[in-house]
Amino acid sequence: MTSFIIDCDPGHDDAVAIVVAAHHLNVIGLTTVFGNSSIENTTRNALDILDGAGFEHIPVAAGASGPLIGQTKTGEAIHGKSGLDGATLPTSTRQAIEQDAADFIIQASHEHDDLVIIAVAPETNLAIAMKRDPTLASRLTEISIMGGSTSHGNATAAAEYNIYADPEAAVRVFESGVPIRMVGLNVTSTFGITQTELDKLHAGTGIGRELAGALQFYLDRQTSTYERSHAPMHDTCALIPYINPEWIEYQPLHVVVECMGTHTRGMTLCDLRGSVVGGGIANSENSNAQVAISANTTAIIEQVVSDLLQD
Ligand code: BDR
Ligand code: CA
Repeated sequence: MTSFIIDCDPGHDDAVAIVVAAHHLNVIGLTTVFGNSSIENTTRNALDILDGAGFEHIPVAAGASGPLIGQTKTGEAIHGKSGLDGATLPTSTRQAIEQDAADFIIQASHEHDDLVIIAVAPETNLAIAMKRDPTLASRLTEISIMGGSTSHGNATAAAEYNIYADPEAAVRVFESGVPIRMVGLNVTSTFGITQTELDKLHAGTGIGRELAGALQFYLDRQTSTYERSHAPMHDTCALIPYINPEWIEYQPLHVVVECMGTHTRGMTLCDLRGSVVGGGIANSENSNAQVAISANTTAIIEQVVSDLLQD
């Protein structure tokens, strides 16, 4: 049976991904990292979400408080000061375990033959774990990343936030040799929860209702920031290959992470030439990642709402 670790920075869309993952997959732990808010806030939010949704058995290991290099950049503009503004979750009485995120991942890789990491935040924890144990990569089945884009960014015109927040970490992950899946903004930002679904959550029960206020905050920020009438479920998309592989179409591509560019630091440069000039230099033979290119958006949102409304 495949085991999963969710490496996350909750975060509104992380919160939803955690609930969906815990409903469908054998989640053996969450590792947290700075990102949408400070490491203290993302760790507290992770514990509150798990306990609020009835998954108190899943441990949380806290990780990096900042990137390998440079300044810490958080996602307050979209997720608020707490990283999960608008939530009405009870405060968990649990704490993160003593082991840090990198050690948790390394130990899990010894204990679980078939281990997949769902990486939906800056990839600092994974990069630290790979540096601490250079044999780690050989024991991971796959890393499914929400990050990057084949087109536009969000942190900058070129760069998506999870990669932009720690490009050097992302390079280490992309170059690790572990099979990589990448679902980026070109897919994840195109759809999401609308006011119609949110009204169902407000009127519902369980974790859906507890998170409705938070998701309302998130939708309102998406509208005021991007003029969107939907709240993207970016992070849930990274789970979809293990829930229903038909819902997101991936294509083998060569991806590099730009660390130097004056205007493009943190960009994932995806070589799409092979798909344009069939058999050209950028074809599946030199690919290093499966990159998402389209999604069954209706099916994904229906699944999300149904999972959030479960008692
Ligand atoms: C990604 O950045 C974060 O704000 C979200 O949680 C998601 O992981 C989208 O760019
Ligand atoms: Ca995230």
